Amino acid sequence: MSNEKIPFNRPYMTGKELSYIAEAHFNGMLAGDGPFTKRCHEWLEVKTATKKALLTHSCTAALEMAAILANIQPGDEVIMPSYTFVSTANAFVLCGGVPVFVDIRSDTLNIDEAKIEAAITPRTKAIVTVHYAGVACEMDSIMDIAKRHNLLVIEDAAQGIMSTYKGRPLGSIGHLGTYSFHETKNIISGEGGALLVNDERFVERAEIVREKGTNRSLFFRGQVDKYTWMDIGSSYLPGEVIAAFLWAQMEEAPSITQKRMDIWQRYHAALAPLEDAGKLRRPIIPEDCQHNAHMFYVVFADLATRSKAIAHLRAADISAVFHYVPLHDSPVGKARGRAVGEMTQTRLAADGLLRLPLWLGVEAYQQTVVDRLLAF
Ligand SMILES: Cc1ncc(COP(=O)(O)O)c(C=O)c1O
Repeated sequence: MSNEKIPFNRPYMTGKELSYIAEAHFNGMLAGDGPFTKRCHEWLEVKTATKKALLTHSCTAALEMAAILANIQPGDEVIMPSYTFVSTANAFVLCGGVPVFVDIRSDTLNIDEAKIEAAITPRTKAIVTVHYAGVACEMDSIMDIAKRHNLLVIEDAAQGIMSTYKGRPLGSIGHLGTYSFHETKNIISGEGGALLVNDERFVERAEIVREKGTNRSLFFRGQVDKYTWMDIGSSYLPGEVIAAFLWAQMEEAPSITQKRMDIWQRYHAALAPLEDAGKLRRPIIPEDCQHNAHMFYVVFADLATRSKAIAHLRAADISAVFHYVPLHDSPVGKARGRAVGEMTQTRLAADGLLRLPLWLGVEAYQQTVVDRLLAF
């Protein structure tokens, strides 16, 4: 196995995707909200106990819906980590919102809840929690801060499907939550996402925003006799072919998660000697968090060491990759947002973090990856 290329990611397919796509084809209903979409919605609603789950064509789209539902107006501020994907911030900037970046915790690399209150101003409207690597933010503290300051909480749970915080599914704790089904995630449909509407107040409007600003969903359910333009919105729903693919994945979500967890645990155990020797640190999972093995990363002390590690792995045809470039340092982050406080942990993660290959099937190559790292 050691002479083969070991990619960072290889999308897993359960084998049922094509037969469900054939079924969607046979049904002759290819637009959104057909039978497969309904199955996916029900699965999400049962799994997360959310008031309403709505498939979208990406997590980015779900975040854009969240920004509209939060009624973000020009100049409204939204507190979030800088160590995140562009869409976390961009969705709010599209509405004229101002991302206010705060540092992350050194253990989970999630937003540091102790730094949020210092960033609140009279213009603050919402807090976005990004559950990095599918490990929960400290949600009790964050929900408490939000309640005291009358703010909305939007969970960017792009990486968090099947993870929990104190037994509660990620994405179901804040007022709104978002998932990604991009091919790099645990449960996939190529591109894809979902919005969880956990607060009843947003349910009706969420359906309208997702259907181009119309009340078409009510019309199809026979609740109104014609549909019309009610609000701003866009076309955020995926077609049935995507939902059919996703359904094949959802059916196997527990076993996919368990297999990923086995791989994660193997990395964790095998790399302990490197942590003991002070060469890197492994992920830290707080007691209250059940994660989903979305990612296995290690953190080196600095950029130079990480660059050497990437080159060392690449020389053995192993692809390991760094992650986010801090948004507060990006051209748009600087122009449209601002950072509050020091960004020390954000910089350390941006410079030192390295993600190892984690996909179903990597088991056959995992010892090669581990041996190569042990030799670093
Ligand atoms: C934290 C976070 N939010 C949002 C996204 C965007 O997801 P999508 O590609 O489904 O739009 C990603 C993608 O990796 C992400 O990591």
